[in-house]
Amino acid sequence: MAQPSRPLKARDCLRKLAAARNTNIDSDVYREMQNAQVEIKSFEASDLDDLQSLRALAFEPVFRSFRETLGVEIADIVLASAEEEQAELLEKLCDPDSPDQVFVAEIEDEIVGFVSMSLDDKNKTGEIRLNAVHPDHAGRGVGTRLYEFVLQQMREAGMEAATVGVGGDPSHAPARRAYQKAGFGPTIPSLWMYRSL
Ligand SMILES: CC(C)(COP(=O)(O)OP(=O)(O)OC[C@H]1O[C@@H](n2cnc3c(N)ncnc32)[C@H](O)[C@@H]1OP(=O)(O)O)[C@@H](O)C(=O)NCCC(=O)NCCS
Repeated sequence: MAQPSRPLKARDCLRKLAAARNTNIDSDVYREMQNAQVEIKSFEASDLDDLQSLRALAFEPVFRSFRETLGVEIADIVLASAEEEQAELLEKLCDPDSPDQVFVAEIEDEIVGFVSMSLDDKNKTGEIRLNAVHPDHAGRGVGTRLYEFVLQQMREAGMEAATVGVGGDPSHAPARRAYQKAGFGPTIPSLWMYRSL
């Protein structure tokens, strides 16, 4: 006799969805189903190690692109401690005494992304700071969920506008698209220029 089917666990559900990715399932429906699995919570001290691993993985293509763009001679100097400094930045953002806040996205208790924010009470402007989604979960709407969440946090804190800084290089194309999708529009382009001495 057939066993009664047990309820699908979130991870099984995601696996099924991944298998369905190349079928004719409507992509909005697909994303909505996946989004339903994502929970967002405030950072806890025990999350830091996972966040650091996720950060290193997600930004690996970004630092690689920076090094390719600058060339070895300059990159070896100016980016010598870039990853280390980013790790320190994340630690600082997560510090309990930091004025900034960090939020964490989870799927079935597994950390899949994070976003940090700063609030400028004087200018009533919130800023999205360092953020990333685990590459295994990228392109599935987790970033969009994190941005929607953090923008709502800013509104509730009395902010009237939001800003985010993002690279104009190819490795930041996903971030630029995701920010546009989250409603960011008017842009002031800026360039970082380098030379060797
Ligand atoms: C930026 C980032 C957090 C986005 O997270 P994500 O969960 O993949 O984003 P979403 O799935 O919500 O996608 C948002 C939009 O970006 C698009 N996008 C995702 N990956 C993309 C890619 N590789 N190229 C172009 N667009 C991309 C999505 O298609 C979606 O737009 P659409 O709905 O119009 O199709 C993630 O790509 C990341 O961690 N990047 C590396 C770290 C980084 O750049 N952080 C931000 C700078 S501090």
